[in-house]
Parts: sequence; C-alpha cells; structure tokens
Amino acid sequence: MSGLKVSVLGAAGGIGQPLSLLLKLNDKIDQLSLFDVFNTPGVGADLSHINTDSSAKAFLPTSKEDTTQLAEALKGSNLVIIPAGVPRKPGMTRDDLFNINAGIVKSLAEGIAENCPEAFVLIISNPVNSTVPIVAETLKAKGVFNAKRLFGVTTLDIVRANTFISQLFPEESKASDFNINVIGGHSGETIVPLYSVGKSKSFYEKLSEQQKNDLIHRVQFGGDEVVQAKNGTGSATLSMAYAGYKLAESILNAVSGKSDVVECTFLNFDDSIKGSKEAKKLVGDLDFFSLPVLLGKNGIEEVKYEILNEINDDEKKLLSVAIEQLSKNIEKGVEFSKK
Ligand code: 2OP
Repeated sequence: MSGLKVSVLGAAGGIGQPLSLLLKLNDKIDQLSLFDVFNTPGVGADLSHINTDSSAKAFLPTSKEDTTQLAEALKGSNLVIIPAGVPRKPGMTRDDLFNINAGIVKSLAEGIAENCPEAFVLIISNPVNSTVPIVAETLKAKGVFNAKRLFGVTTLDIVRANTFISQLFPEESKASDFNINVIGGHSGETIVPLYSVGKSKSFYEKLSEQQKNDLIHRVQFGGDEVVQAKNGTGSATLSMAYAGYKLAESILNAVSGKSDVVECTFLNFDDSIKGSKEAKKLVGDLDFFSLPVLLGKNGIEEVKYEILNEINDDEKKLLSVAIEQLSKNIEKGVEFSKK
C-alpha cells in the first residue's frame, strides 16, 4: 500500500515538529497533514521545502469554535498520531496533566470519529494510561470503534530500556542489540520492563540486586530525568518523537505487507483480537494493557500474551503493582469520557 495520508494532531509542539520531520522522510507517506492550534503554517511551509515526495499541508483553526480545519486535516487519513496537549514540569506526574489533556484528546477523537473513522490512531498525549481509554470510549459512543486500530504509544519505554541496559555493558553490547519487552502502562510503576526474557537475560543476570533495582527504576522514571534536565521547559520531545515514529513506521510496514512485525503497545482487549481473552485473564482482568502485539494489514492481529508465562518472580511483583495503579488510571479515563 502506498499513497497514504498521515495526520499529526499537535504538529507544532515539541514532539509534533520532530515527529512530522521523521514522517516527511517516510516514502510510504504521500500526504502529511499538520494540525495544531498555533504555528502550523510555519511548520508546514518549512517541511514542505524538503525534497521528499510527500506533500506537507498545514491546518490552523481560526477560532476555538472552528472545527473545519480539523475536519479538513483528518479527511482521508489512514493514520493519525496525537501528541497534542501540555507536557510535565518538574515535580509533576503524567496524571497531573489529566485535567487539561483529557478534554483535548476527547475532542480530537470526536474529529476522528466524524472524519476518518477507519484510521489507525496512535496516542502519545499523556497520561496515556487514561487518554487511550478516553479515545476508545469516545469512538465507541460514536459507533466507530475498532480495537485493532487503536494504539497507546509506550515505545519510549522500550527505547529507554534498550539504551539503559547497554550503558551498563559498554564493552559487550550496543543499544541496538536489544529489543526489551516493556509491558503494563506508560507511567512510573505501571511500566514493567521484562529484562529476564530474551536476549537481555544473560546480561541482566550479571547485575547485582541493587543494579537490577536501579535499572528498573531508571526505565520507570526515565521521563523524569528529561523533565529535570529541561528545568521547567517541558518533557521528552526528541526521543518521544523517535519512539512515536518507530511505532508508526512499523504499522505502515505491516499495512504494506511486511510480515512478523511485533511491537509493544497499550491496547484495548477485544474479542476481535486473537489472544485478548487469555491476555486479559493474566493481567487482573484489565481492559487496557501494553503487551507485544503482532501487526498486520488491519492493525493488531494478535496479542503475544505468552511472554507473561515466562516472567520471573520479581517481575510478577512489579506486574501486580502495575495492575493496581493501571486499573485506577483506566477507570479515570472511562469515567471522564462518559461525562
Ligand atoms: C516520557 O516518557 C513524555 O511521556 C513521555 O518522557
């Protein structure tokens, strides 16, 4: 499949700009649609000079009531990525962003339901553990929900998990050697890196208990390192753009016929997805959770829940803490979307 239209909602922001740049370089994309409530003409003009073959078109509403620009941006989109919203300041958790970002994400989801209900939808806006349920419930209320096509972006946790373990073994490994499964959610203790499974196992087992705990803590709270380093000006944007792009690229590759594409994503368990029932049982009956999934032409084909049977006792403990917190985050999103 080529000639794809991809929309970025929040395209002028800290994540939106580098994300749009990466998308401009992907030759599977024909039209890049840039929506935001500020500065999109500038970002669009800038990107449109790049001599890759896609077009870059900017959309900017003229007032708070103007929904025509969002509609135009979304019409015909095959894939929509949402980094819109406000980022964290030092001392804030992702949940502290809920009050502002929940409403933004809900209105964007309504736009998707009305203008491109069949698009793949990737959610970056925090708190992902709650915003993904908001989008799911909003699309359900409009009668257009397809669980195979909704993705919470947790890829940055995998990116960090790969980088941080390789930094502990600089002589013996590179970051790109690893592809750690990180499951659960995308916030603090809901983030569960599974270092004991797969290629990382032999490295991980060389670490002391203290080093293991420090490594897991670093993955869970890696976002805070960036928030502190940026000192009040925001949270991760460049690494987040890379992570969001990586998931989008994998989806576009799978849609174009590539086989065996597996990525971790925060998904809604639904009977239409193979392995959903089994997965749900293993994660405390939650409706949403991040696990590795097999991608295909229609999106999420299968949940690779079997990994949950391979984890060690320490990871089981992390999992139960994650489940408890996630259930509250999910409930908060579902409640909000019913208002
Ligand atoms: C992070 O993990 C921004 O949620 C993002 O840093």
